[in-house]
Amino acid sequence: MDTNNKITRRSALKRMGAAVISVAAASSGLFSLTSCEAKRKKRIVLYFTGTGNSLYAARQLAGKHAEVLSIPQMVKQGRYEFEADEIGIVYPIYGHMPPYMVRQFIRRAKLKAEYKFAVLTYGARKCDSVEIWNDISRKVGNAFDYIGTIIMVDNWLPNFDMNEQILIDKHIPENLQKIAADLAEHKRWHEPVTEDERQMHRGFMQWTKLDPEVGFLMKSEKCFTVTDACIGCGACVSVCPRGNYELTSAGVKMSGDCEYCFACIQNCPQKAIRFLRSEDESFPDGRERNPDARYRNEHISLMDIKRANNQF
Ligand SMILES: Cc1cc2nc3c(=O)[nH]c(=O)nc-3n(C[C@H](O)[C@H](O)[C@H](O)COP(=O)(O)O)c2cc1C
Ligand code: SF4
Ligand code: SF4
Repeated sequence: MDTNNKITRRSALKRMGAAVISVAAASSGLFSLTSCEAKRKKRIVLYFTGTGNSLYAARQLAGKHAEVLSIPQMVKQGRYEFEADEIGIVYPIYGHMPPYMVRQFIRRAKLKAEYKFAVLTYGARKCDSVEIWNDISRKVGNAFDYIGTIIMVDNWLPNFDMNEQILIDKHIPENLQKIAADLAEHKRWHEPVTEDERQMHRGFMQWTKLDPEVGFLMKSEKCFTVTDACIGCGACVSVCPRGNYELTSAGVKMSGDCEYCFACIQNCPQKAIRFLRSEDESFPDGRERNPDARYRNEHISLMDIKRANNQF
């Protein structure tokens, strides 16, 4: 910094540089472009995904100019503060609850926006997932103006055959369009929940004995095993949002807290990852409908899932 009125050589050059840039910008119309950019609302969409449904929905709802950010990548970078005109979150429901990582994220996140929306993807029964998200987010000072759901392919392997699921028309484009229209007009609305749906969720929690404060949080080494069909491609290593997989000289190993997101088992090109049966038949017992059918959203590539979840 200059301490007297004399202009140093460095500051003279700096001023000259600024003058040249402003003339160039004015003549190239850059100023009119930036003022146009400034008027456009800034939207950030945060997402979590195992098989791509939520990433697809996030991209569709983001439109052309929004930032679409993966929650596992934000957690990896320790980034919890976001500011925009509109901030959205898209995630798959697990037992009608958010994935554990999403729950932890929202507890730490500081979301500064005039309009906040959440869109929950699901496959068959949404139950009271909207109220569950409202309770969790409101308690930590991140209340959402809009909470809606969208039905997509159900990737819950224990109950569903992926080959059958992909044939069902769940009217996804129309439903996405409806949500996009709601968001465009900043609709303040929470999708209604019925007493039957609350009851169904209570029954599910009693049956599964899941902790309502946690939801699904498993141990990957107790849930999965790898067969001889493995070709060591390393996809499982890159798609796990917890970085649980490792390629070793003795084959693929996995261990650690598990979101039960199915990114590993669904995205293995060899179908070499299988569920381990639980010893006492407790939930989830490791049975599945069709071990030869696997799913990833048709608009989402394996590379997209790797970019979303890779922890290395
Ligand atoms: C652990 C787990 C639990 C699930 N629980 C439910 C559920 O309670 N109700 C439901 O309709 N779908 C449930 N699903 C299906 C997913 O919510 C649905 O397929 C979602 O769109 C997947 O999103 P993704 O492709 O972004 O991972 C569950 C899936 C998993 C893996
Ligand atoms: S994704 Fe499947 S085939 Fe590839 S390394 Fe992992 S277990 Fe083996
Ligand atoms: S081990 Fe598989 S199911 Fe568990 S968090 Fe990693 S990718 Fe998801």
